[in-house]
Amino acid sequence: MGQIIKFPENFLWGSATSAYQVEGGIENNDWTEIYPAGRACDQYHLYEKDCELIQELNQNSHRFSLEWSRVEPEEGRFDEKEINHYRDVLQVLKLRGIETMVTLHHFTLPIWLAEKGGFANKKSIFYFSRFAEKVFVEYKDLVDFWITINEPLIYAFWAFPLLKKTSIKRLLLIASSFKVIHNQIASHKKIYEIFHRNSNNAAKVGIAKNNTYFEPFNNKSLLDKIGVEACRFFWNRYFLNRIKNHLDFIGLNYYFHRKVRFPFSTENENKAVSDIGWEIFPEGIYHTLTELQRYQLPIYVTENGLADAEDRLRKDFTRDHLFWIHRAIGEGVDVRGYFYWSFIDNFEWEKGFGPRFGLIAVDYGNMDRKIRPSGYDYAEICKDNGFIFD
Ligand code: GCO
Repeated sequence: MGQIIKFPENFLWGSATSAYQVEGGIENNDWTEIYPAGRACDQYHLYEKDCELIQELNQNSHRFSLEWSRVEPEEGRFDEKEINHYRDVLQVLKLRGIETMVTLHHFTLPIWLAEKGGFANKKSIFYFSRFAEKVFVEYKDLVDFWITINEPLIYAFWAFPLLKKTSIKRLLLIASSFKVIHNQIASHKKIYEIFHRNSNNAAKVGIAKNNTYFEPFNNKSLLDKIGVEACRFFWNRYFLNRIKNHLDFIGLNYYFHRKVRFPFSTENENKAVSDIGWEIFPEGIYHTLTELQRYQLPIYVTENGLADAEDRLRKDFTRDHLFWIHRAIGEGVDVRGYFYWSFIDNFEWEKGFGPRFGLIAVDYGNMDRKIRPSGYDYAEICKDNGFIFD
């Protein structure tokens, strides 16, 4: 007989996407020239169908992002048609009783801001908080959870340099990445204050942090342990330490386990890997959640998933991670929700449409959606608020 895994009452069960990866038809952000997503999953037109699928799969919540370049195509000009579009999406979700978690920045910027240096420009604090305030005023009665920035450090050290068309020297680029982080921190704090200043409802503002489970390559090596502590401090906690008084919850995006050899090199066993070679290490989510307990804040797993086109691994992947999340909850970690990445197959940034992360498969020719067996298995878990772990 397997172990009964039951989650707390009112646990949020959902899945996640981001605008540029699923909507299609986005032509004026800083990715479109170098990494065009074309029609993506055409969710811009098929969102009602997708909201129906969210409900059919018993998910009581959904995380998605607003595409800034749609809402504010030119500096200071807000597009009413696009503002109404996202209001429609939110209303369809709310009418179906689905809690909404909205990300304000998920790796993409309007081209007009990118051309000013994006988050490396100190004025980005003003621009981002102005955009945030605009959508907050428009949607504050429809959004249950706001995430200011998705994976700030991944953005600063991966997406930002990736999109840099100039040939500025790598060292200069790294210096710019630290400027990006500084402005992200300032933006988050300003947005938090704005949302809590003029909010007659209890706006919940958080961040989606891509934290990694770092452990020593050699448990007996003091140097490896020093390397681990350095990684844990800088990668997992530095940003959170700087904004911890401006958070109502923490979002954890968990994907990575790293065995650290001093000072920072990593070497994993990779016994099980996804289609794109990412190691599958469910126990790591327990350790990253436990590390977050020090902030004494509610935690939502805002992303966890794998590329698995044949759907061979996804059911066990999800159950194994939920088993370890349940272990953390049992030890007092205040985890209140889980958003699988991703609701549907989508555009995986510089990797394009090859990787298939979805609970639902997408035929990019006719945009048909087909629920995968793992999607139905997850639907049962959502319905039962738990499962039997064999
Ligand atoms: C990220 C982003 C997602 C990715 C997902 C799979 O973590 O990079 O939040 O947009 O698509 O994590 O890589």
